[in-house]
Amino acid sequence: MLLTEIDHVAIAVRDLEAAIDYYHRAFGATVDHREVVESDGVEEALLKVADSYVQLLTPTRDDSPVAKAIEKRGEGLHHIGYRVADCGEALASMIAAGATPIDHAPRPGSRGTTVAFVHPKGSFGTLIELVEE
Ligand code: CO
Repeated sequence: MLLTEIDHVAIAVRDLEAAIDYYHRAFGATVDHREVVESDGVEEALLKVADSYVQLLTPTRDDSPVAKAIEKRGEGLHHIGYRVADCGEALASMIAAGATPIDHAPRPGSRGTTVAFVHPKGSFGTLIELVEE
C-alpha cells in the first residue's frame, strides 16, 4: 500500500480571506501554513486537521488552472492530495495502472514537499496530487 495518509483536501475558492474566516467561525480552525505558489498561480491556506489538512486554494492570476476550474465548475472540491513515502515510485505505479500524468516527474510543491499531479481522466474523475513530505 503506497498511500500513507490523506495529505489534504483542496477546495477552490474565489475569496481566500472569506473562506478562512468562515472556517474559523464555523470550526475554530486557524491557518497553519500559508503560501503563494507562483508556478501554479495559486495562494493556499492550510488548516490542520489531525495529520491532514484542509487546503483553501485561490487563483493569483486569470490563467491559472484553479481560475479556469472555478470559471468552469464554480467553487468547490478541486483535488485530493494523497501522502506517499516516495512520490516517484507512486507516480510510476499509477502510470503502470493506467493513469494519465500531468507531471511526468516529481516536482517541488508547497511547504517543502515533493509532488506530482495526475489527470482526473483515467482516475475516476478525481484530480490526484501525490505528496511526499
Ligand atoms: Co494540493
